[in-house]
Amino acid sequence: MNTEVAIIGAGPAGLLLSQLLNRAGVSTVVLERQTRAHVLARIRAGILEWSTVELLRAAGVDARMEREGIPHDGCVLASGDTQLRIDFRALTGRQVMVYGQTEVTSDLYEAQDAMGTEVLHGVSDIEITDLDAARSVLHFTHEGARRRLSCLFVAGCDGFHGVSRRTIPADRRREFERVYPFGWLGVLSETPPVHHELIYSNASRGFALASQRSETRSRYYVQVPLTDKAEDWSDEAFWDELRRRLPGEVAARLVTGPSIEKSIAPLRSFVSEPMRWGNLFLAGDAAHIVPPTGAKGLNLAASDVHYLHRALIDAVRGDRAGIDSYSERALRRVWKAMRFSWATTTMMHRFEGEDSFAEAMRRATLDHLGASETAQKDFAENYTGLPF
Ligand code: APR
Ligand code: PHB
Repeated sequence: MNTEVAIIGAGPAGLLLSQLLNRAGVSTVVLERQTRAHVLARIRAGILEWSTVELLRAAGVDARMEREGIPHDGCVLASGDTQLRIDFRALTGRQVMVYGQTEVTSDLYEAQDAMGTEVLHGVSDIEITDLDAARSVLHFTHEGARRRLSCLFVAGCDGFHGVSRRTIPADRRREFERVYPFGWLGVLSETPPVHHELIYSNASRGFALASQRSETRSRYYVQVPLTDKAEDWSDEAFWDELRRRLPGEVAARLVTGPSIEKSIAPLRSFVSEPMRWGNLFLAGDAAHIVPPTGAKGLNLAASDVHYLHRALIDAVRGDRAGIDSYSERALRRVWKAMRFSWATTTMMHRFEGEDSFAEAMRRATLDHLGASETAQKDFAENYTGLPF
């Protein structure tokens, strides 16, 4: 097999990159370890920055998002019973879009089907070789046979547990990591959202988030110890805990129902530098992970893809300036989103065993945010997304 760009991973990063490259006439083959059904069953985050919305438009995968997505002008940061609304639109002129990552992925699959792109599923044991040669080679197992794919460039879009990052020699990689001592227990339910905007709540019992997927579908989270198991949380226990962590007036309006999905995700900040090794380019979770508090995971994957698709289109046509600066440009934006995600996580969560100073700092940060329009503008600017 032959292609211009071989893409490892059919998550949002891999599929969006493939779609943008194909539209510019660059050929791709996508290799995915899981089945398509498995990829489409994963429930992930649900907030798109406007730059992500515009990138999906440029990729021609916006039709359903325009119909079903819900633009939001702000969100609420709560501390106990005190609610502070951050007005994105008034402060920055920008909005965000509520549209689930699962829907984005499904729209991308359909667009790739229409393009006739080869997306191979159930691929295993990928080996990446010849990254310094004019053509690189991927060896992999598919439907019981060992196969070979020759390409000009490899895009590693295979998430945190993928093979791409580990292909870069360990002594040439620098990793930065912070693991948080808690996880988020998430529940999806066919119930109307408790509020028309998202509520991030810092309560004495721990953090909670009231999010949504549509006017009839809600997504809620509560901070839990890492030792908790999702199956030990009954729906009733979840709703009780959520109610206790939302401002009283909001909790009184909460409509509950059976959970459609319930899972626990650990929280981590992680960056691996560089994002390029010879003809290999990393994008999305393969290179970095953020805790979900700032809603940046999918949006960072999108900004990587924004830089990378342009760089690869130029490189296929003979201009290598974009690929030479890709890692540095992508990382500059990644680090700023890392900072925001870490700061927001620190501001909104209780850390077990924290001292009185840490608690006082969190209170002062929220107090300052409530009193200073400058601080609110800074939050809004980061939340709605820094420029590409
Ligand atoms: N070979 C082939 N495919 C692989 C391999 C492998 N060795 N390892 C992982 N994959 C696939 C995974 O099955 C997954 O479908 O790569 C894909 C990576 O997709 P995501 O994990 O969704 O990562 P990404 O596309 O970078 O999207 C980033 O997704 O995980 C969320 O929070 C994250 O919102 C962010 C967004
Ligand atoms: C979600 O709806 O899943 C969601 C929204 C905002 C976040 C994290 C997750 O910050």
